[in-house]
Amino acid sequence: MPKPAMQPRPRPSSLVSQFAREVAAGLTKPGQKELPSKYLYDSVGSALFEVICELPEYGLTRSEERLLQLHAREIVDQLPRPVVVAELGSGTGRKTRLLLEALSRWQSTWYHPIEISPSALAVLRRELRDINSISIVGFEREYLDGLREVAVRRSPGEHLLVLFLGSNIGNFDGAAGSDFLRDLRLILQPGDLLLIGTDMLKPVQTLISAYDDPIGVTAAFNLNLLARINRELGADFNLQRFEHLAIFNEVTHSVEMRLRSRVRQKVAVSEASISVQFEKEETIWTESSHKYSQDELVSLAHHSGFRRQAQWMDQNWGFAENLWIAE
Ligand code: TRP
Repeated sequence: MPKPAMQPRPRPSSLVSQFAREVAAGLTKPGQKELPSKYLYDSVGSALFEVICELPEYGLTRSEERLLQLHAREIVDQLPRPVVVAELGSGTGRKTRLLLEALSRWQSTWYHPIEISPSALAVLRRELRDINSISIVGFEREYLDGLREVAVRRSPGEHLLVLFLGSNIGNFDGAAGSDFLRDLRLILQPGDLLLIGTDMLKPVQTLISAYDDPIGVTAAFNLNLLARINRELGADFNLQRFEHLAIFNEVTHSVEMRLRSRVRQKVAVSEASISVQFEKEETIWTESSHKYSQDELVSLAHHSGFRRQAQWMDQNWGFAENLWIAE
């Protein structure tokens, strides 16, 4: 009997990385193509994002830092003790340092950064290790998985303070933001706290300059996502044929970041086993950044099971630090 012809062995899906699977799903989605924004932050992306935070046009990070510089002690004075600190998406730790230093006047503190970027976690450990009486145990996990770990490890009588800074909540799309906060609340116990930073609504031109700066750092940051897919998944994106786009959606109050194809073209992503057709001017949606009104914050807290305990506002840029308590 003739030997059956060798079939190419289908790759078990567990061997195709999650990154490849999510890229394939996003780029073959009918209608609007998309890529998950969490993949913006490889080591190149994280470095570019740090530069964004220094840009005069991107006032968000400096604004929040000013707030914490002015009010860290006041914030810490509002907390029950002892308190364990968990942070979702830790960033570089500059802002966190202000809070941890204020807290270390009162107690020795367990600090748990939860962060999917290993390079960001490593930077953070280095940045914060000199603070007195802080023990850092990080988790390289998705936000709520990491938070569940922290919650089960705490001792009876310890309160939990969750830091969610940088208006990261605004990067959840539409209802996903309040769904996320409700899920987060379910991991907490009544009396636990959430310190959440929110970027407020401001004139459209200010927002567009913040997300499409004149020297092109933000464009590089966004385009790096395609470069990363080239590097890690063997794709053949020609970066010259895509451009960064930031538009303000007046209905959803979000800045939408997209990558727009300058020409009609085809792109192959070898590790994801896909080939994708782009029409001229077709976009890939990479991230939205929602901007908040005061009324919206009131209902967001309420609907996700929190009571608003205090708020500190930087009028200069338009940024609020909100302290919410789980009901
Ligand atoms: N979380 C940041 C924000 O919404 C991220 C960010 C800044 C960003 N500039 C960007 C994401 C450009 C994608 C593209 O402000």
